[in-house]
Order: sequence, then structure tokens, then C-alpha cells
Amino acid sequence: MSKLSGAKVVVIGGASGVGYAVAAAALEAGAEVVVGSSRTARIEAAARRLGHGARSLLVDVRDEASVSAFFDAVGPFHHLVFTAGDWGQMRGPTRDLDIEASKARMEVRFWGAARAAKHAVRQIAADGSISLTGGMLAHRPMPGAPLTTASANTTEGLALGLARDLAPIRVNAVCLGLILSEQVQTMGESAIKAFTSNLPLPRAGTVAEAAEAYLYLMRATYVTGQIVRVDGGGSLV
Ligand SMILES: NC(=O)c1ccc[n+]([C@@H]2O[C@H](COP(=O)([O-])OP(=O)(O)OC[C@H]3O[C@@H](n4cnc5c(N)ncnc54)[C@H](OP(=O)(O)O)[C@@H]3O)[C@@H](O)[C@H]2O)c1
Repeated sequence: MSKLSGAKVVVIGGASGVGYAVAAAALEAGAEVVVGSSRTARIEAAARRLGHGARSLLVDVRDEASVSAFFDAVGPFHHLVFTAGDWGQMRGPTRDLDIEASKARMEVRFWGAARAAKHAVRQIAADGSISLTGGMLAHRPMPGAPLTTASANTTEGLALGLARDLAPIRVNAVCLGLILSEQVQTMGESAIKAFTSNLPLPRAGTVAEAAEAYLYLMRATYVTGQIVRVDGGGSLV
């Protein structure tokens, strides 16, 4: 299995949570890392915490000009990981859906990923990779969250379409179960238990466990168009 030493890895969404853990793991594997997100103080603090080998760049994936300028500043690179996501309201029974708020969330998670792929292509190596982020609700819908299911599915579908369109650049997605990012920890222990107690691995995952899948996808030079699930076996129940 190839190391990542000498590779340049770009993590959009690297200010916190899963993206930050991917950046830390890539650095440890010998890569040079660029982390991007939309709030200056957060992304600069993340690069400082990551230390030597990491640099930060501002990008708002809702804005195509910002994404284009970001990749101009990044320059040639090997692997793109996209974990950007906001947590705007998207839940609720169908009859009460706030369509406008739900559209806004798709701006980051889906359209943001599409903008990133479009502008990454100018700089990414032909043997590079793109890894997007989906979620278990794509495959295990629950009452009160139809648009969350649709959102995760569209992002995972985008990865499959890009894998055909951008080949030989490899494109995959990681489908996350409940992962204990700072954001998820705010749900509180009892809500986290309720989501995870029936899983074959009855707990939430750690951000380091999630990061492992993205590292695998960067190194797996014969894997494209795949959805790798990191969900404690959630797809079995
Ligand atoms: N954790 C889970 O259990 C779980 C489960 C399923 C799916 N997911 C998905 O996995 C992804 C990562 O989750 P997480 O828990 O690690 O979340 P997180 O800590 O909130 O990370 C999301 C990152 O996206 C960045 N971001 C938000 N809006 C952006 C924008 N407009 N442009 C660029 N960057 C932006 C944020 O930084 P700034 O605020 O600085 O922009 C933040 O660093 C999310 O898309 C989430 O939906 C997570």
C-alpha cells in the first residue's frame, strides 16, 4: 500500500470534525495538507493545530468564484477530500418541510461538492482522487427526514457519476454513520445512544475511525465509483 509522502492533500471542511481528522491522518502519513473552510478564524486555528506541513485557505463552497480562486491558490495537487457541510434545518415531517432552508443546505453538501469537483479538475493529478461524503440516512431512511435521505443520496450519486466522467481520476464517497465530531457531541449522550444502541457495533464512531476510510480511498489505486460505509454495521439492521 503506497504511503502519502510527497502527496498534496486538500481537505474542504478541514476546520473541524471528520475533515480535521482526515487532515491530521494525511499529515501523519507524510502528505502536505491544505485545509479549507468558510470561516477565517476557524480554518486558521485548524492549520495552527495541525502544525508543520499544513496550510489553510478560505473557501465558501456556496460561491463558485470562491471555489475557483481556492483551487488557483492551491495549485497542482493529488487528493481532494470534501467533508464540508452545514447543519441547517432539514428535518421535519413532509407537510412541514421548509423547502427554502432545505435548498440552502444542499448548497453546501451537494452543489458545494459539484463546484469543488468542477474546479479541482484544473489542478488535480491524473492519478489523483476525489472523496465525497454521504451518510447512512441515504440507505436507512427514518421518519421525519426525507430530505436528509435525498441529500445524502444525491452526494453519493454525484461520486458515481464523477467516477465515470473524470476517469482516470478516481472518485468515491464515504458514507458515515453517527461519528462523534464536535458537532455531533452537542446532541447529548442519550440521543447518541438512541441512534447507535441497535447497531452491530453499538456506539458512535470516532473521527479517527472515519478518517481511516478517506486515507484508504486516497491509497487504493484500483478503486473508483465506490461508497465505503463507516457505520458500525448500520446497513445490516
Ligand atoms: N458526523 C456525523 O455523524 C455525520 C454523519 C453523516 C454525514 N455527515 C456529514 O459529514 C460531513 C462532516 O461532518 P462533521 O461532523 O465533521 O461536521 P463539521 O465538524 O461541522 O464539519 C463541517 C465543516 O464544513 C465546513 N463548512 C461549512 N460550510 C462551509 C462552506 N460554505 N464552505 C466551506 N466549508 C464549509 C465547516 O467549517 P467553517 O464553519 O469554517 O466553514 C466545517 O469545518 C458533513 O457534511 C456531515 O453532514 C456527518
